Amino acid sequence: AATAAFVRAIPKAELHVHIEGTIEPEHAFALAERNAVTLPWATAEALKDAYRFDDLQSFLDVYYQVTAVLTTVADFADIVTAYFDRAAAQGVRHVELFFDPQSHTGRGVPMSVVMDGLWSAVSRSVETHGLTSSLILCFLRDLGAEAAAETLREAEPYLDRIVGVGLDSAEAGHPPAAFHDVFAAAALFGLRRVAHAGEEGPPAYVVEALDALGAERIDHGVRALEDPALVARLAEERVPLTVCPLSNVRLRGVDSIAQHPLGRMLDAGLLVSVNSDDPAYFGGYVGDNMIALHDDPRYDLATLRVLAENSFRSAFLDDDTRTALV
Ligand code: HPA
Ligand code: ZN
Repeated sequence: AATAAFVRAIPKAELHVHIEGTIEPEHAFALAERNAVTLPWATAEALKDAYRFDDLQSFLDVYYQVTAVLTTVADFADIVTAYFDRAAAQGVRHVELFFDPQSHTGRGVPMSVVMDGLWSAVSRSVETHGLTSSLILCFLRDLGAEAAAETLREAEPYLDRIVGVGLDSAEAGHPPAAFHDVFAAAALFGLRRVAHAGEEGPPAYVVEALDALGAERIDHGVRALEDPALVARLAEERVPLTVCPLSNVRLRGVDSIAQHPLGRMLDAGLLVSVNSDDPAYFGGYVGDNMIALHDDPRYDLATLRVLAENSFRSAFLDDDTRTALV
């Protein structure tokens, strides 16, 4: 409890959280009922029992099925509000929220519904929750580059509502370089660029994300440690890495928090932060991730504070806003 109070009191920015991964099972069933959507599980308990994953794909299979409960503007607004409630309660001051428009437009939900719903909550987060927030549109890498380009075209009317673009979904076999053109187009629109790399994919995907996509931040990046030259570059260039410890354990990228490479990443001088990824699925929100780390003596309170400070250094914030938040 003392740890929880300390963690809550440290200002934190969350930079790696997928809004579709924040739908708690009970909320999923409430939305399913409201929209007359049938989920392939009988109850919220049965859905929770399905949260035993072997790898990223086995998680994504569940995640995309649950996403189908979202159909209206109010649904998108409500899940953001529910996430902000939990994040604010754990001391989060700033959020850069990922969303996966193709997981909705692919089911016939218009881009306008997605954008209007998310924006109604994001645009009011300072008033409602005392936190700043922004949106990062992610392309689903397993759907390919042409679908990503089409998604960016559909998002053009809403570019003033997003701060950047990202790349997520099934990593293995989907190297970043295929998305060179759509990331270049996003850069010309003035958007920031991030990419998931080195979660399940090899260190070479991290290099490609930097060189081919111009990624300014790497999501996960834990496998970068397998390549000493890459580690040296990431340290030298102060490339932020958004690490998600409970996610990596639940998706079996690492065996346990004790085995997690975060400590070695800190020792190597990397700019790492702690994030929740898909908190409804992986056992907790950003504060819960820090509390789980603290069970390991490497992550003492001073180290947790450094990780939280790093989250603001890694954020897409102007200096005045950053100073006001920490
Ligand atoms: N990795 C890749 N894609 C994702 C994830 C993740 O952890 N969560 C939601 N989409
Ligand atoms: Zn992620």
